[in-house]
Amino acid sequence: MSVTVRVPAKVNVQLAVGSARPDGFHDLANVFLAVSLYDEVTVSPSSSLTITCSGPDAGQVPLDRTNLAARAAELLAARHGLSPDVHIHIAKDIPVAGGMAGGSADGAAALLACDTLWGLGSTRAELLSICAELGSDVPFSLVGGAALGTGRGERLTELEVGGEFHWVFAVADGGLSTPAVYGEFDRLTEGLAVPAPAASPALLDALRTGDAPSLAGALANDLQPAALSLRPSLADTLQTGTSAGALAALVSGSGPTTAFLTKDEESAGSVAAALLASGTCREARVASSPTAGARVVGA
Ligand code: C5P
Repeated sequence: MSVTVRVPAKVNVQLAVGSARPDGFHDLANVFLAVSLYDEVTVSPSSSLTITCSGPDAGQVPLDRTNLAARAAELLAARHGLSPDVHIHIAKDIPVAGGMAGGSADGAAALLACDTLWGLGSTRAELLSICAELGSDVPFSLVGGAALGTGRGERLTELEVGGEFHWVFAVADGGLSTPAVYGEFDRLTEGLAVPAPAASPALLDALRTGDAPSLAGALANDLQPAALSLRPSLADTLQTGTSAGALAALVSGSGPTTAFLTKDEESAGSVAAALLASGTCREARVASSPTAGARVVGA
């Protein structure tokens, strides 16, 4: 008996970041959009908690208890007085440490898979509370679609999306550490008055109407200067994609993956080809949005 859950990556179409809070986190207005790059997480009974991972970047995925998928199994088991004796296999397709919530996605997927395997029937609210404990982006991986995250990003309000958006994601060589990027944000904004983060009405409107040019005009990521400061070469990647016809370009979350919004699927194909040919990224992936959150696809 095993259970498989498919879970999407995300891009932040707006990431408004406030100043650091006493707990070290930052208040956010974080508009998440789920995109059609997926990991698949399969859990099956085992004598102890073990993790394996497959896929081209599997070597970069931690296989110990720091993996959010392992932590999800442990937290869920502890809540029910169970022992987390499962084998977790991650079929990895989401860029690793790329600012696309790949680790968070695996946490949400393992949680849903274990809940199903163990027949616990947890409510959505119970699962979401464990997700929030696992990490700021994990609740969104469960929910999918589009949502505004406030607080440290974990308090979600689902958003309506009126059409399909087409993207290219340029995968950089090597990851960026999320805490390091937030640390650089703090350094760059030291002594400045950082405004309280707020969702942009124009951006929410563009999502609601499904209008790609309007969304392009409203894309914003307050972590972008910090990611560029730590990885200056990303500026060339962003420039290459816009010169190749993307409507807009931005760093995805804390990076280093860069995201390019295009007017349609065909344009996404030509922007991806130009990015690959330029040598300014390791890989260029085409995807669309929105897409559903974590879902059981096999049991
Ligand atoms: O919540 P998560 O474990 O994914 O966060 C990883 C790190 O990112 C945190 O330890 C913190 O340094 C930074 N972070 C932050 N403010 C947020 C979310 C994350 O400073 N709202």
